[in-house]
Amino acid sequence: MENRLTENETEKLITAALQAREAAYAPYSHYTVGAALLTKSGEMYCGGNIENASYGATNCAERTAFFKAVSQGERKFKAIAIAGGMEGQEPVDYAYPCGICRQVMQEFGEADFRILIVKGKADYREYTLEQLLPCGFGGNSIQ
Ligand code: THU
Repeated sequence: MENRLTENETEKLITAALQAREAAYAPYSHYTVGAALLTKSGEMYCGGNIENASYGATNCAERTAFFKAVSQGERKFKAIAIAGGMEGQEPVDYAYPCGICRQVMQEFGEADFRILIVKGKADYREYTLEQLLPCGFGGNSIQ
């Protein structure tokens, strides 16, 4: 379970997650989320939430980042940083990933996959996937 992020990786992920919020499409909730996903090979994929007039078709920022990466052939991931808040404002709270996004992380991340919940450049909380989704259901359960 050794999957520590370097200071440089942490800083890059936080900056990218905060920046990714700017491209979020959230005309209904006006709550914008940015996510920056780091692969084990050092590539970074960013995404924002993409809302829809049919609310259920909305895609969260975390899944946007994962689906971009997986559709480019990426399969091994080290960490994700997530930042959320009202449009045009700095985050005022920590934005934790929803249950569906945690399940997507479970599909592609290992137990020590790191999740950074970002409130500001120097204000974040770090978790492992196992902490945020204990006893998760994964592919090994159906083999
Ligand atoms: N949202 C995310 O992007 N990620 C989450 O983990 C939770 C919620 C988005 C979906 C929706 O566009 C907005 O935040 C309000 O729920």
